[in-house]
Amino acid sequence: MKQQGAILWLTGLSGAGKTTIAHGVAQELQKRNYLVELLDGDIVRTHLSQGLGFSKQDRDINVRRIGFVANLLSRNGIIAIVAAISPYREVRSELKQTTTNFIEIYVQAPLAVCESRDIKGLYAKARAGKIKHFTGISDPYEAPINADIICQTDNFTVEECVNQVLHYLERQGLID
Ligand code: PPS
Ligand code: ADP
Ligand code: MG
Repeated sequence: MKQQGAILWLTGLSGAGKTTIAHGVAQELQKRNYLVELLDGDIVRTHLSQGLGFSKQDRDINVRRIGFVANLLSRNGIIAIVAAISPYREVRSELKQTTTNFIEIYVQAPLAVCESRDIKGLYAKARAGKIKHFTGISDPYEAPINADIICQTDNFTVEECVNQVLHYLERQGLID
């Protein structure tokens, strides 16, 4: 049977685990011969969204652009995996309503855990006032209310979170 497209939309704070889980899911799906594409906010911002900042307006433009591309991919049978903070509920819900097989995945960890990970040193800079509008510190994050999947990355391993997503896709009949 022809592969069904989908949009796996990973939202969450910086350091919550979006990129890590997105790669893990992509790798597993590719192993099973599914066509997959990754759209990571950090990377999109070096190309498609180059020049955009982190004001609400710029984040909304960025997130809508990512949604636009993810939709092009998914309607052609590709599983688009998005890893973007996408902090505003309204734009996420707009994308859910205007696309097909949109799966909202809340990659959740307490701010203190994300901050203690601080893999890119951004939280330290944000606390020092060197980065303005930093999500969770000086900018809002609106957590999903009705996420399809919640990955609690402070309580579960990367492998467990990846499997949680894969099992969901199996249950939905999106993969075998
Ligand atoms: S958004 O809100 O969806 O448009 O953000 P996104 O495109 O995912 O970009 C988030 C990455 O940008 C880095 N970064 C910041 N994040 C949050 N707030 C501020 N002010 C900021 N400045 C730079 C950071 O590396 C984010 O990546 P992740 O993977 O989330 O850590
Ligand atoms: P984000 O893209 O959301 O900023 P990253 O994936 O870059 O987050 O970083 C998450 C960090 O947390 C990585 O160092 C990763 O190894 C660690 N981590 C620990 N447990 C998990 C988990 N269950 N899922 C994802 N990442 C985890
Ligand atoms: Mg990331």
